[in-house]
Amino acid sequence: MQHDEVIPILDFGSQYAQLIARRVREKGVYSELVRPDISIEDLRKLNPKGIILSGGPSSVYEPNAPKCDPRLFDLDVPVLGICYGMQLGAHILGGHVHPAKAREYGRAKLHIASDNALTRGLPDDTTVWMSHGDQVHDLPADFIPLATTPTCPFAAAKHKTRPFYGVQFHPEVTHTPRGEIIFQNFLYEICKCTGSWTMENFIDQTVRRVREQVPAGAKVICGLSGGVDSSVVAALLHKAIGPQLACIFVDNGLLRKNERGLVETTFRDHFRIDLRVHDATEQFLSALAGVTDPQQKRMVIGKEFIDAFKREAESIQGARFLAQGTLYPDVIESGHGYAGTAANIKLHHNVGGLPAELGFDLIEPLRELFKDEVRKVGETLGLPDSLVWRHPFPGPGLGVRVIGDITPERLRVLRDADEIVLEELVANNLYRKTAQVFAVLLPIGTVGVMGDARSYDSVIAIRAVESQDFMTADWARLPFDVLATMSSRIINEVKGVNRVVYDISSKPPATIEWE
Ligand code: XMP
Repeated sequence: MQHDEVIPILDFGSQYAQLIARRVREKGVYSELVRPDISIEDLRKLNPKGIILSGGPSSVYEPNAPKCDPRLFDLDVPVLGICYGMQLGAHILGGHVHPAKAREYGRAKLHIASDNALTRGLPDDTTVWMSHGDQVHDLPADFIPLATTPTCPFAAAKHKTRPFYGVQFHPEVTHTPRGEIIFQNFLYEICKCTGSWTMENFIDQTVRRVREQVPAGAKVICGLSGGVDSSVVAALLHKAIGPQLACIFVDNGLLRKNERGLVETTFRDHFRIDLRVHDATEQFLSALAGVTDPQQKRMVIGKEFIDAFKREAESIQGARFLAQGTLYPDVIESGHGYAGTAANIKLHHNVGGLPAELGFDLIEPLRELFKDEVRKVGETLGLPDSLVWRHPFPGPGLGVRVIGDITPERLRVLRDADEIVLEELVANNLYRKTAQVFAVLLPIGTVGVMGDARSYDSVIAIRAVESQDFMTADWARLPFDVLATMSSRIINEVKGVNRVVYDISSKPPATIEWE
């Protein structure tokens, strides 16, 4: 999509590059990651209001260190170098970068040395986050130091005549509490942006583009999962093309309690979307009978899902397009953006998704968005909070939470227990404070005593995690009294359970799901 204001970020391999893009967008300016060796011509085509050079693990004096085209500094567009990006800018413009005497890692006290547009509004002394081995040693004569830390004489600097600014610290991380002031100043004081990146504008532009793309008479199919991404895609496309959208929801028999109802009420009753619910419970459960190996379960569920989806799609006249909820981080990770190095740990997470080669043209209206932006779009489009703020739910559903054999009775036990866990979480105002919370049914029986009788029943584990990106997670410290209520309610109300345990493992080395 063409944006009237863009801040490209040359990604030199920083673990924080995506975070920089998010910070810029939070300030109302569209930003995207580009390759560090992007040609000057391609950069010009983007018509950037400013350019950011990210941090990175390399040292500028190493022979293979990634470099940008030096002509970038002649574009007469403001440039902000962060950490490695500052060192690179200083290096290209004639400075010397050396290993610092002391590696600086962690919090540092920043002192503003002279008033300037970049740091204006920051207190004279403030805390910043440092993470570097090298630092600019000698500033070329053309530079003015702007700020210092006790070990870093050029913690921020600017070129005397060119619009190049550099900061050695990381304004994008939360450990730099006033970092947003740096972005605010760079974008609005230095680059003179107006702030056109709003979700309302995004929706208007997307609606226009989809209308151009989809001819009259053609239909777009959208697979709904009950999660936030596909829900937002559906609501967005419905706004654009109304009855030309047909949604398919596959009931695989592995859904949570009331899940199908929520999707039906929201999309069919409220939005009046053409929603086709394909009930494939029997096919799924018979294909899963006797399957206990987690990867085998995923394979069976993945295959059955594609079959069920295809069967339903075949009945839709004029279906030419398939809409998918691909997000910006997926685009970057799959190498379409900066050919990133992030290991593709998420591969197995495509289970419950569709293969690209179904023969449809793809429509991916969320390709440019981060998750928090998707939620904002959902809110703007009027989706209910219960969908917009939904915890993620894996494609294979309860299939990987019923450990061992998947039977209708064991699914019933897990569903009832899971519902209680979620009810208590919401009732205690903890849903929005946790990333993912659910129940798991274990494949063992344990002894209990109920009334005067001995029982031999199942165990439910409660899993609750806090996480930003689901690549790492910590177990949530849910209050004991909330856990106590969950436990006693499950044991009293769910027939077949006599014991509840709490999972206190972090990821890594454990994973969020048990299978
Ligand atoms: P793990 O268990 O790997 O999960 O720590 C990380 C996140 O991914 C979800 N997950 C899946 N999502 N298909 C999906 O669509 C899958 O096969 C799958 N396995 C795990 C999990 O719920 C968590 O949010």
